Amino acid sequence: MKENKKEVQVAHFTVDNQDISLWPRDPSPKKESPAALRTLPSVYVAIILLAVGLVVFFLAMIILYPQLLGRIDDVKISVDMLKGRAENTSVFLSSEIKKLRNKLEDSRTQVQMLNHSLGYSEVQMQLLSAMLKQDTAQLQALTSSWEELEALNAQIPMLKQDLKKTGELNAKVEQLRKDLQTLGASLAQQRYILEMASQDWKFFGGNFYYFSTMKKSWYSAEQFCTTQDSHLTSVTSATEQEFLYKVAKGVPYWIGLTKIGSSGSWHWVDGTLYIEKENVRFWIKGEPNDRGENERCVTLVKSSLMSWNDLTCDQEVQFICKKGPKPSETDQFHDGILLHSPSSSQTQHKGDSHPSNIHREFSP
Ligand code: BGC
Ligand code: CA
Repeated sequence: MKENKKEVQVAHFTVDNQDISLWPRDPSPKKESPAALRTLPSVYVAIILLAVGLVVFFLAMIILYPQLLGRIDDVKISVDMLKGRAENTSVFLSSEIKKLRNKLEDSRTQVQMLNHSLGYSEVQMQLLSAMLKQDTAQLQALTSSWEELEALNAQIPMLKQDLKKTGELNAKVEQLRKDLQTLGASLAQQRYILEMASQDWKFFGGNFYYFSTMKKSWYSAEQFCTTQDSHLTSVTSATEQEFLYKVAKGVPYWIGLTKIGSSGSWHWVDGTLYIEKENVRFWIKGEPNDRGENERCVTLVKSSLMSWNDLTCDQEVQFICKKGPKPSETDQFHDGILLHSPSSSQTQHKGDSHPSNIHREFSP
């Protein structure tokens, strides 16, 4: 019995909540058959203990199995949850990675674009720099011009004064020019008068008169006058009449009064309107008497206001031409001064001499 007890103590058990381990301690050395016989009760004990242990184990298992199953389920659920979370996390991470990749790609594209823009900007910077240089040069030129302008502005008051003086001088010059023009015209007129006077034309009351020395019929006399840009004289006032008879001194001269048409009304050959009541005072008393009904032209025959007599037009007597004060249109002026008078180059007619020539030919 003592040896059996020793055999039982050789076996070692360990039981915990979940696992059961059974292992022998150091294997006991094989004994001779009689020893085996001595260990048989120990084996029984061991078997019993083992059986008890198994029973306990199974009981424990029976008791603990549902709990274990529950825990296993919990663990499975937890694992599933973790799996789900992991999958979700994986999906999320994939999505995020994809987004990040896209962003990275975008960033690369943007970097490329920025690089391109940077290159373009550099070119523009160079252009702007060149333009800036140009602008700077222009600004300097403008500054210089501005300074010149300011200098000119400073001169404006002086220039205004000069302008005012110039205006006054211009007015004076204009006045002088007009005076000169008037003087020129006056000189031209005087020169013309002198020239006419040299040709025996007398100036009176603004008109020129030529008292012929030769005798002609009334028509020939008128024809001669027209060659001198004149007509046989008209008489338009007592003053003129007085001038004429005083120069004529009683010598008969044709004047430009004649009858026209069958009515025999009086008419001035130079176109002056004949006014009966104005001219009646110049007729000799009893005239016009139309002696022989053939007296259609008029002579100035007496040295008095009443000096007119009607006479036969064919009769040859001296005559008086008259023309206006102004030089004819063919006369040439320069700055109001007469340069040339047509009378000096007048066409000479057969039998009719220029007044100056006539004077030289016929005057005593
Ligand atoms: C008369 C004039 C007339 C003249 C003609 C004079 O005696 O008084 O009226 O015209 O003669 O020659
Ligand atoms: Ca008469």
